[in-house]
Amino acid sequence: MTSIEAPEQLDLEQVDLMDPKWFEDGPPHDLFRRMRAEAPVRWNPLPDGTGFWSLTRHAEISQVSRDTATFSSWKAGVFLNPDQVVPLDLTRNLLLYKDPPEHTKYRLILQKAFTPHTVAKLEDAVRARVTKILDAVVEEGACDFARDVAVPVPLGVLAELMGLPDEDIPRLYDWTERIEEAQRSPEPNAAAPAFVEMAGYLHEQIQRQAQEGNEDTLVMRLRRAEVDGEQLDDSEILVFFGLLVFAGNDTTRNTLAHGMQTLLEHPDQLELLREDPSRIPEAIEEVLRFSSVVQWFARTATTDTELGGQRIAEGDKVVMWYPSASRDEAVYDDPDRFDIARDKQDHKAFGGGGRHFCLGAGLARLELRVVLEEVLRRMPDLELAGQPGRLPSNWANMVNALPVRFAPGTREG
Ligand code: HEM
Repeated sequence: MTSIEAPEQLDLEQVDLMDPKWFEDGPPHDLFRRMRAEAPVRWNPLPDGTGFWSLTRHAEISQVSRDTATFSSWKAGVFLNPDQVVPLDLTRNLLLYKDPPEHTKYRLILQKAFTPHTVAKLEDAVRARVTKILDAVVEEGACDFARDVAVPVPLGVLAELMGLPDEDIPRLYDWTERIEEAQRSPEPNAAAPAFVEMAGYLHEQIQRQAQEGNEDTLVMRLRRAEVDGEQLDDSEILVFFGLLVFAGNDTTRNTLAHGMQTLLEHPDQLELLREDPSRIPEAIEEVLRFSSVVQWFARTATTDTELGGQRIAEGDKVVMWYPSASRDEAVYDDPDRFDIARDKQDHKAFGGGGRHFCLGAGLARLELRVVLEEVLRRMPDLELAGQPGRLPSNWANMVNALPVRFAPGTREG
């Protein structure tokens, strides 16, 4: 028996959670369970002699996420390598990397343009896109749900949100794939070329929309939004669009694919939704909790402090394992059971809470709901038709193939 198969016999001291081998079959929930019980705030040494504090409990992840004064996103970024995606000097312009008071001001401006009302108004457009995407496969009686549904839905919705022409979606797909690969690459700065190309394109698109002057676009709403007399300039709008592409694509894609896989593997739960589709929103919260596709983000201590009985030094990194927090037995009964009817607690799929809580959570929930509603209506007998495929990563729980079959239907678009 290998050590990966017997997490209860492992010497936790020897475990490096940054080694992707622990994530080959998805998040290492058995290991996380032991860590929550035995070492919830644990020093994880890295091969290069550095290390980080690994947080696995709901309580400390909530505490760190809410205490931005002690645990900074700005100081050294939200990954272990400050230059992981692109150099820190550039990523610091992103909302995700800011601390208060800058973060507060910037987020208030963005929230003005990204209200629940704005998101609700997108429902018809999202449904029209989902209809078209299902039309492309419904007559076949089979598809790869990951490739044919989970990939195009968030890309199409992002294009809709940012006012980009549909014919440019393949380019958007190419950039997002390259950024995602850079995310998993050991090389720092690997996403820079893709970001530079995408930035040039987004710049043109923002200028075009500004000239056309349609007041009901996100570009124009962002240009008008004002907090304490301050407004965003076009370069800040561009940076925000870059963040939307990074934050709103793979996250939603993997939750869609993983959520559908989980439902198909739990036919009793899927049956509850078939009988009563009004339960879809509660099922979505359980899918988010159960899959928590973003595995971690990091923060850096701004001062010496104490956390869960451990002394954390100024400059130390802490890594928050969201799938572990979402299955913390201190918060959820029988946390490994997938149960759409469970009492809802705040899962950590959208982050630990506090100021950086996912700005797109409302939009992601809308996309998940519309897809589930339309799939259950049009493919009521959907079932697994083969082995799901996974991409190895300890940063995102990625399903890249999900073969399904169903009785062929008719196009509606
Ligand atoms: C199921 C899909 C999604 C998941 C699992 C997810 C997850 C997350 C997580 C874990 C964070 C970090 C929170 C923190 O540091 O505390 C985050 C932040 C963010 N997300 Fe999402 N996200 C999803 C969809 C979206 C969508 C659709 C958009 C927009 C189109 C979006 C935009 C953002 C932005 C802008 C932030 C930064 C917020 C800030 O720093 O203030 N996300 N998301």
